[in-house]
Amino acid sequence: MNDNGKLRVVLATHNAGKIRELADPMADFGIEVVGLSLFPEIGEIEETGTTFEENALIKARAVCAATGLVAVADDSGLEVDALDKGPGVYSARYSNDWESLPGESVDKRNMRKLLFELRDVPQARRSCRFVSCMVAVHPDGRELVVRGTWEGRILEEPLGENGFGYDPLFWDESIRKSAAQLTRDEKNARSHRGNALRALLARWSDFMAGK
Ligand code: IMP
Repeated sequence: MNDNGKLRVVLATHNAGKIRELADPMADFGIEVVGLSLFPEIGEIEETGTTFEENALIKARAVCAATGLVAVADDSGLEVDALDKGPGVYSARYSNDWESLPGESVDKRNMRKLLFELRDVPQARRSCRFVSCMVAVHPDGRELVVRGTWEGRILEEPLGENGFGYDPLFWDESIRKSAAQLTRDEKNARSHRGNALRALLARWSDFMAGK
């Protein structure tokens, strides 16, 4: 508990964007979210798992053990059906084997590789989904695992300026927009991470009560 009687939860990420996204909805549940910046002694945690669940659990277990606090972690990525659900857990590192063009960001290089790999794949077979696995680990050993998904299709060229990662290539047919054409609130309302967070919060009280 912190000074205001709120439960303090550590989010097992250095990503300020993720902390911002998760802190407000969790605060409504009486949870105060802090990031790893409060615990500089915890270094980078290697994601050695082969599934989103494994990677999220690796991060949350390590942070829970190091802090003695309830730890929440998420691991996410893009599954493309024509690539046997790749790049999956390797989404962030997908194009590390490609050379960057001058001034090209990793996100742009990842998209360039994805478009190349799908160059002969017709629209009808470009189905994909974003996946987010979110876990909570309690110091007494209890673990909560939830998953959120967002179904879409990979476009043939980037569209939109918002978001990050593969957002400009992700087309949501139900609203006929790319993820990068959505505001942050519009994206949260339908995204994999938004869905995973809603699933986590729906089960939070039972998890904390040990049910
Ligand atoms: P991580 O969960 O921080 O390891 O992120 C995995 C990678 O998946 C990111 O670096 C992005 O490439 C991709 N990714 C995850 N969520 C999103 C999203 O909401 N939009 C676009 N790309 C995403």
